[in-house]
Amino acid sequence: MMKSTKSTEPIRVGVLFSETGVTSVIEESERMGTLLAIQEINDAGGINGRELQAVSYDPGSRPAKFAAFAEKLILEDRVHVILGCYMSSTRKAVIPVVERWNALLMYPTLYEGFEYSRNVIYTGAAPNQNSVQLAEFMLREFGSRVFMVGSDYIYPYESNRIMSDLILERGGEKVGETYLPLDAPWEDYLAVAKKIKQAAPDFIFSTVVGDGTALLHRAYAQLKLDPAAMPIASLTTCEAEIKQMGADIAEGHITSAPYFQSITTEENRLCVARCKARFGDDIVTNQCWEAAYFQTHLLASAMRRMNCDSVPDLLRALPGSEFAAPQGKVRIDEHNHHTYLRPRIGRANATGQFDIIEEGRHWVRPDPYLVSHTLQDWSARVQVNSR
Ligand code: ACM
Repeated sequence: MMKSTKSTEPIRVGVLFSETGVTSVIEESERMGTLLAIQEINDAGGINGRELQAVSYDPGSRPAKFAAFAEKLILEDRVHVILGCYMSSTRKAVIPVVERWNALLMYPTLYEGFEYSRNVIYTGAAPNQNSVQLAEFMLREFGSRVFMVGSDYIYPYESNRIMSDLILERGGEKVGETYLPLDAPWEDYLAVAKKIKQAAPDFIFSTVVGDGTALLHRAYAQLKLDPAAMPIASLTTCEAEIKQMGADIAEGHITSAPYFQSITTEENRLCVARCKARFGDDIVTNQCWEAAYFQTHLLASAMRRMNCDSVPDLLRALPGSEFAAPQGKVRIDEHNHHTYLRPRIGRANATGQFDIIEEGRHWVRPDPYLVSHTLQDWSARVQVNSR
């Protein structure tokens, strides 16, 4: 399969991020991170002289279309490496396809964990790298009564199950849990905001994704709920969603993620500047953009080392590999195919960016099954900004 020796032919990779549909805003930024990395790889000489080329389709935020395009990439385009997927329902649809044809999916989105496929490399946060820290932070800073609201699919159900365990085992209480269809209208979000107001929790845990994120925040703002007293805490609401909803209604809410655009390292500043130079000054970066960016570089170095794009060779080269990403150094775990990442807590500010208020001192090993997670790494956290 596709073992290449002295060819000068381009090496093609599949790129499956939605340009339309409910999660297109965040998926467009994953696509942007991927294309920026591909450009940088080619500017630096490609894969040992061969150009890396994207073969892209728009799966429209629909799991069945993700599966169909993955199969088309593999069987018609003869492309065996796919960079893509945001919603867990779309990843779950693609996995049987890549497993059947021994292809490789590189997945740059935080998700609910409790999964392993030898044909997938997971570069977004696992629950021990975002949920554990968020639970600890929210209980410490706001209180233990939580209202959960999510979109109606697998990631919110499972992420809420994990968050419930983390909160209940620390003596907290769940005062509400509700799910809305991905395309739910404004009135539904307003009804949920009313329920939240009535339940008066200490904080809200939102696993709403895509276009609904803006509606939830708008409904919250319309009821004049106060983020300083009862914020929305999330693993998914990032700079892209804030740009969509407007900074004024996001301000004060909390997100747990390994990357924020506001990270002040030189690597990040330069990377954001290169992205703006390519895609326009008004773009924002975010955790999913960053994972899409660094996973493409990790893939390219594996291809260079093996001097080919054969999936069995890449599956030998990728585990254990490291990259100096905009968040700091990252590493793919040899055993579980997930990525060592550095937890951070951000609070949205008036400019549509996040003030990073706490961060781990080190990267945290991914533990997608929450087998042995502890707060040890996180308890070595540093408070970055005073609250
Ligand atoms: C997600 O569905 N993994 C955000």
